[in-house]
Amino acid sequence: MVKDKSVKKILISAKGKKKYYVTQLNEDFITTEGVVKSLDLSSEKEFIETDKGNKFHLINPSIIDLMEKLNRGPQIIQPKDIGLIMSKTGINKNSLVVDAGVGSGTLSLALANICKQVTAYEINNKHLNIAQKNKELFGAENLEIKKGDVAEEMTETNLDLITLDLPHPWEVVPKAELALKLGSYLVVYLPNILQMKKFVESLKGSKIKLLEVIELIERKWKVEERIVRPETAELSHTAFMAFCRKM
Ligand SMILES: C[S@@+](CC[C@H](N)C(=O)[O-])C[C@H]1O[C@@H](n2cnc3c(N)ncnc32)[C@H](O)[C@@H]1O
Repeated sequence: MVKDKSVKKILISAKGKKKYYVTQLNEDFITTEGVVKSLDLSSEKEFIETDKGNKFHLINPSIIDLMEKLNRGPQIIQPKDIGLIMSKTGINKNSLVVDAGVGSGTLSLALANICKQVTAYEINNKHLNIAQKNKELFGAENLEIKKGDVAEEMTETNLDLITLDLPHPWEVVPKAELALKLGSYLVVYLPNILQMKKFVESLKGSKIKLLEVIELIERKWKVEERIVRPETAELSHTAFMAFCRKM
């Protein structure tokens, strides 16, 4: 029988704040601070204790906890950009979405967390395997990952959103035009502004209209007693995002 590898519970050490990801509730769980009994893993207790008397918080995993555990492949999309994509496209529990390329699956999994169904395309076998493992970890049953070039293989129709984080999004425009519902969105994610210019030019004569191109800058601050200033090490540029709508 194939084991369900999704994360069911998170153990957080009360002492060290170390986090453990529990996938099997019917097995005792070994930590560096002792063993947690399987019976306790299914309990509703606020704290549980290991056989060595060390305390752990037992919580249900949130998508934020799971993102920390993600197996990494190519460059992942950052939470600030995921947030903007969600808020600018109005996707919800009824939405049907295609995401490509899937890469490590960060964006696909974040979309699957709030949408009805996400289909993700990936051309590279190595990345496909990483994304499949991450899908299992999240237990994301509404995410289907397909192997192939999205520009050629996409068969979905009636979509509410297509997201493209790949080097040649202009090649996907003809298929996207057919796959999107009237009034629904295409979001293109590109690190380089020259690529963005080429993509925008590729929309000429298409039913997909450019709404805006955005680069979102996030600035973290250090707030600690008398030190109140922006953090010195910053992730300055992630990507440019084009928000488009089929009209
Ligand atoms: C930067 S990664 C995507 C990262 C992903 N958005 C995430 O958040 O984890 C780009 C991926 O697109 C894939 N790719 C490139 N061209 C593609 C195509 N035409 N169809 C499907 N996948 C493609 C690459 O193999 C790579 O895995």
